[in-house]
Amino acid sequence: MTEHETIRVERQDRVAWIHLDRPEALNALNAQLMREVVAVAKELDADDGVGAIVVTGSERAFAAGADIKEMATKSTAEMRADGHFDAWLEFADVEKPVIAAVSGYALGGGCELALMCDIILAADTATFGLPEVGLGVIPGIGGTQRLVRAVGYPKAAEIILTGRRVGAEEAERIGLVSRVVAADALLEEAGKVAAGIAAKSLPALRAAKAAMDAALEVPLTEGLALEAERFTGLFDTADQKEGMAAFSEKREPRFQHR
Ligand code: CAA
Repeated sequence: MTEHETIRVERQDRVAWIHLDRPEALNALNAQLMREVVAVAKELDADDGVGAIVVTGSERAFAAGADIKEMATKSTAEMRADGHFDAWLEFADVEKPVIAAVSGYALGGGCELALMCDIILAADTATFGLPEVGLGVIPGIGGTQRLVRAVGYPKAAEIILTGRRVGAEEAERIGLVSRVVAADALLEEAGKVAAGIAAKSLPALRAAKAAMDAALEVPLTEGLALEAERFTGLFDTADQKEGMAAFSEKREPRFQHR
């Protein structure tokens, strides 16, 4: 795997970790970090030796937003011409389960990056928010769409229009995060969750994620048809035969991830 300047990448068995690593800017998401995260995520997505990906930051910050200094003097034409945040769309297209392990600040683009992940585990010290209106802009990496879908319009509207910060406990209560854990247990817990997922059948994980993604995009009838297609499609996989045989034989399955 290539060398990176703004992230660190680690592998533990079938779990891959992407550590955001720009401590001098509280992991602000500049163009280079975006390119590096997206390139690595695509490599890991294509690697059948990886079953789950964890994205995390530091104790102080998951990420304090898009890099304000990088955008401050840009014009509308420039932002559009360089497709400033476009690569993040590819991160959201990763087919494998992605877990955000969030400690400290997850503001603006940082909160939006977490919302692109399938599961958000938050340390009790985590702080979420979309403060963009206070900078004269709006969330631009999916926040207006994904927060509304995650917590419903009235809550999302209050968070986005006031720009206020949301603590971990409230974030869990309103459904912004999957679960809150003690800060000193965050990485261990994220590792356990990821390893548990990665041990499951990869074709089944991909199919589950694709079907759930569809739930956010398409009408119910279409979503149910897609689910049926993916469900029945798994019956030609080695893992389906192994998983169901293991159940009957009262043993743990040995998946080949195909
Ligand atoms: N962009 C660029 N640099 C940032 C940054 C960001 N989003 N957030 C923090 N930094 C930098 C600071 O400028 C500072 O650098 P210097 O030491 O060179 O001045 C360094 O990180 C440490 O930050 P602070 O000194 O501000 O640390 P603090 O503990 O006093 O405050 C904070 C922490 C409350 C998170 C504060 O840094 C902050 O408010 N950051 C910006 C949060 C924000 O507005 N995010 C939204 C960005 S816009 C966006 O994300 C658009 C979008 O939707 C895509």
